Amino acid sequence: MSTVVISGALWGDEGKGKIVDALAAQADTVVRFQGGSNAGHTVSVGGEEYKLRLLPSGILYKGTTCVIANGVVVDPQCLIEEIDNMKARGVDTSNIRLSNRAHVVMPWHKLFDELAENFRGENKIGTTKRGIGPCYIDKADRIGIRVCDLIDRQDFSDKVRSVVELKNLILEKVYNHAPLDVEEIIREYEVYAEKIRPFVCDTISLLNSQIDAGKKILFEGAQATMLDIDYGTYPFVTSSHPISGGVGIGAGVAPKKIDTVVGVVKAYCTRVGSGPFPTEQLNPVGDKLREAGREFGTVTGRPRRCGWLDACVVKYAGQLSGTDYMAVTRLDILDSFDEIKMCTAYKIDGAIINEIPASLKVLAKVEPVYEIFAGWQCDISKIRRFEDLPLNAKIYLERLASVTGIKLGIVSVGANRDQTIFLADFFD
Ligand code: GDP
Ligand code: IMO
Ligand code: MG
Repeated sequence: MSTVVISGALWGDEGKGKIVDALAAQADTVVRFQGGSNAGHTVSVGGEEYKLRLLPSGILYKGTTCVIANGVVVDPQCLIEEIDNMKARGVDTSNIRLSNRAHVVMPWHKLFDELAENFRGENKIGTTKRGIGPCYIDKADRIGIRVCDLIDRQDFSDKVRSVVELKNLILEKVYNHAPLDVEEIIREYEVYAEKIRPFVCDTISLLNSQIDAGKKILFEGAQATMLDIDYGTYPFVTSSHPISGGVGIGAGVAPKKIDTVVGVVKAYCTRVGSGPFPTEQLNPVGDKLREAGREFGTVTGRPRRCGWLDACVVKYAGQLSGTDYMAVTRLDILDSFDEIKMCTAYKIDGAIINEIPASLKVLAKVEPVYEIFAGWQCDISKIRRFEDLPLNAKIYLERLASVTGIKLGIVSVGANRDQTIFLADFFD
């Protein structure tokens, strides 16, 4: 086995960064394949915390190649900031590789993200306002600007001039907004171009030749299944494919070259932004989860919505991504609960349903069927072997594995790299 995909099973913030960092010790290369700086992946090592948005969570290992593949939408300002921050903290950044086909987040993307959210008013998606949706829109509309364009001075200014002409029309005539200064944008981005140029390459040939040479590659999903543009709670989703299938398109690696898929499952559920969330607890239980878990967004600082673990969603994610193993994170956050619930089925009008409804109207009518578990009420953060976990914690985890049909691969009992229990080998 040489290729492993890490994909969020819920609504994001499951602890993908921590799991990628824990597995990256064995990997030659870590690859981001979708999303952009809407991601906030936290890695904690030796008391130091790193918040990553575009850089793969393998960056803390010297010598690990960190690829930002073509499916990512890249805000160069953010990328340069992250690289500079890492350098200032003594992290080696010489192994970063950026796809020449990745699309570039431009100032109008961030502006239109904001304007569209304001226009939606009460129906807003609650985006991160990083310009992600508008950048993917332009990609599909074939007016996007790619990294290969950005580093070609003449091409870049020609393309920007032509796109800004259109964007300014929309800004002025639709939004009654001041036009963008095209010359200022070109000047700003020419500086970025020179800074990112050393990292740019064809990541398709790089990754495929690494796979052919038997190198160990970790693909790091951002966002999660329920935010997938096709499979999530549309339209309250992001604009990319966080499921494992996203690797094929987002990194140019054929599906048959993926050996193992790991779904990251938080021990309870959270969601940032608007949209359906069947197991949400708008009550003291939700408040306790938020406080115990310090559930506030990494990117935006917004309080996250909290609720019980939804095994129906985990099962759905497993089906979509072909998940071999679960990495269950933040189990320690449940340490102080005397009673823990898990949703193991959905009912509508009293009847069990076997699918996640496409219609949000129908999804809003879903009643979660809960199983109740006794808590373990002790500190598990220092436990390093599965057999040493309290019996009630093992019962909870084993029930999750049986309801979803997915094996347990990792149990995480704290944010730090070493607070990780491995139940399987992921690389040969
Ligand atoms: P991501 O977006 O999926 O990478 O997740 P985030 O980094 O946004 O949020 C997960 C948070 O949980 C981060 O602060 C992590 O450091 C932290 N974390 C990850 N695993 C664990 C764990 O097992 N226990 C605890 N207490 N914190 C964890
Ligand atoms: P990580 O990788 C949680 C949510 C936003 C919003 C919706 C669309 O850290 O798990 P976007 O800016 O992508 O157009 O916003 O998706 N969202 C996330 N929620 N974790 C994330 O990333 C998210 N990235 C986007 O809150 O509801
Ligand atoms: Mg996050």
